[in-house]
Amino acid sequence: MSRGLNNSRSDFPILDQKVNGEQLVYLDNAATTQKPTSVLNSLVHYYEHDNANVHRGVHTLAERATEEFEAARDKVAAFINAKSRQSVIYTRSTTESLNWIASSFGNSVVNEGDEIVISELEHHSNVVPWQQVAKCQHATLKYIGLTADGELDMADAEKQITDKTKIVSIAHASNVMGVINPIKALTKLAHQHGAYMIADGAQSTPHLKVDVQDLGVDFYAFSGHKMLAPTGIGILYGTPEVLDQMEPASLVGK
Ligand SMILES: Cc1ncc(COP(=O)(O)O)c(C=O)c1O
Repeated sequence: MSRGLNNSRSDFPILDQKVNGEQLVYLDNAATTQKPTSVLNSLVHYYEHDNANVHRGVHTLAERATEEFEAARDKVAAFINAKSRQSVIYTRSTTESLNWIASSFGNSVVNEGDEIVISELEHHSNVVPWQQVAKCQHATLKYIGLTADGELDMADAEKQITDKTKIVSIAHASNVMGVINPIKALTKLAHQHGAYMIADGAQSTPHLKVDVQDLGVDFYAFSGHKMLAPTGIGILYGTPEVLDQMEPASLVGK
C-alpha cells in the first residue's frame, strides 16, 4: 500500500478495526463514503457549541447556526460554480433531489402528449420519478440507447429528443457503466428543442470538476454523503428560472 493511502486511512477512524480477522478495507464509496475525523469533529463541535433552529431565531446560537448553515451553502455554490447561493438547496440525497424535481417541477411543466427522455443507463432514482410523472400527466417516457461500447448513443439522443420533449434527465457519470456522459452537448440539444435539462451528478460530483454554468443544465442533483459529508446530505442545484417555477412540495400535481 502506498504511503498516500496509508495517510488517507488514518483520516477515517472507522477503518481502524478488523472485520473477520482482517484489517477493514471499505470499497463501497459509490454508495456512501466513510466520514473523516474533520467531518466528525465538525458535527460534534456544532452540537456542542452552536446548535439552534436555523433561520428561526434571533438569539446568539440561532444566529451562529444560521451563519454556519449559509456558509456551507456558499461553499457548495463555489464548489459547483453556481452563480449564487440561492441556487443551492439542501436535500437528503440525490434520490430526494430528483424526486423533488419530478414532483414539484416535472408535474407542472409536463402535459398530456409530452415526452420525457432519460437513458438506458440510469440509476433507479432517475427512472422511477419520471415513470410517475409520465403516468400522472399521460406523457411518454423515452430512453436513449447505448452503443456497443456501453456509451450513450448520441445519434439515438438526436432521434429521441424532439420538439415534443419537455424534460431530459441523464446521469453525468454512470454507476452502471462508469462512462461520463456529454452533459454539455445533451443540454444544448435539449435546449434547442425547448426542453429542460437535468443531470444526475451522484457519481460525477465526487470525481469530476463540476461547473454547472459551463454545463448549462437547468437542474443538477448530487449527494454529499457520497463525498465525505454526513448521512442524509444531498444537494439540488437549480437556476433561478426553474426554481421560481417549482411548486411547494405539498401542492404538486394538476
Ligand atoms: C447515478 C446515481 N444516481 C442516484 C443515486 C442515488 O443516490 P442517493 O443514495 O444519494 O439517493 C446513486 C446511488 O448510488 C447513483 O449512483
